Amino acid sequence: MQDLQQLQEEALALFECLDTPHALEDAKARYLGKTGALTERLKSLGSLPHEARKEVGAQINQVKSVISAALEERRQALAKQQQDRELSASALDITLPGRQMVERGGAHPVSRTLERIETLFHGMGFAVAEGPEIESESYNFSALNIPDDHPARAMHDTFYLAPGYVLRTHTSPVQVRYLESHPLPVRIIAPGRVYRCDSDVTHTPMFHQVEGLWVADSGISLAVLKGLLSEFMRAFFERKDLPTRFRPSFFPFTEPSAEMDIGCVICAGQGCRVCSHTGWLEVLGCGLVQPKVLVPLGIDPERYTGLAFGLGVERLAMIRYGVDDLRTFYENDLRFLRRFQ
Ligand code: DAH
Repeated sequence: MQDLQQLQEEALALFECLDTPHALEDAKARYLGKTGALTERLKSLGSLPHEARKEVGAQINQVKSVISAALEERRQALAKQQQDRELSASALDITLPGRQMVERGGAHPVSRTLERIETLFHGMGFAVAEGPEIESESYNFSALNIPDDHPARAMHDTFYLAPGYVLRTHTSPVQVRYLESHPLPVRIIAPGRVYRCDSDVTHTPMFHQVEGLWVADSGISLAVLKGLLSEFMRAFFERKDLPTRFRPSFFPFTEPSAEMDIGCVICAGQGCRVCSHTGWLEVLGCGLVQPKVLVPLGIDPERYTGLAFGLGVERLAMIRYGVDDLRTFYENDLRFLRRFQ
């Protein structure tokens, strides 16, 4: 018994000192292997007197199970050590929680509005055209029948670049560029940035417009223009019964010209601060293309008729989202922008 006890202590102490799985398995063989110390003792039980066999056998088995348990425990400890070493050796710790470095983004409310406008007009058969933001005075003004002394040409209204060039003040020059380079009929919208020396709650020096142009030899009239734009506004604001009205107006490049109003979507026509207590919101300018724009392009105004319109994207976004200061769209305050996600 004394001897067995010693054997057990020796084995446990030895396992603790060994620090490789290989050495541990060798040590196991020394005690529990075919010729191991405990196995030999079990084998020699036969030579003991009958009465002693049972007791000694039980003692040996007891020591055997203590040694086996210690062996298993040490095996696991070594495996864990090995795993820890491997993990700390590699730079990548896949168990660390993510750092959320990349935040989820979303489209800017003005971009979303622009997309919505494009989708709706696309559904009505309009293609999308583009033009340059740096525009010649001649496309921006002259070709659109805007006279030399028009106030929009003044330095304090328009950003002039090199002589003869401006940051386009509207998307209307795309009408001329497109007609110049495409066969009739044409049916396009031209979305994009425009620039004016202006800054207050409803104006920013850069803003977006969507121009519309449809020129064909049949099927175009003021009635079609009114129907088309009314349908668009009803779809845009998701109000089937949205009231619309067209007031006579003046633009040098359309004749007749009109300004379009929609019933105030904030107060439903009752009168509020947003609609200046009129019950109406002005949303765009439009008209039938003035022959003075068509003739220089070689288009016979007796044969072809055009309708055109120009709307402010920020204006529609403000009305749709109930935003009362246009400048907030461009302050890049995430608390504001996140509300649109
Ligand atoms: N270009 C005009 C502006 O910026 C808007 C406009 C009015 C465009 C009437 C048009 C139109 O095409 O027919 O104020």
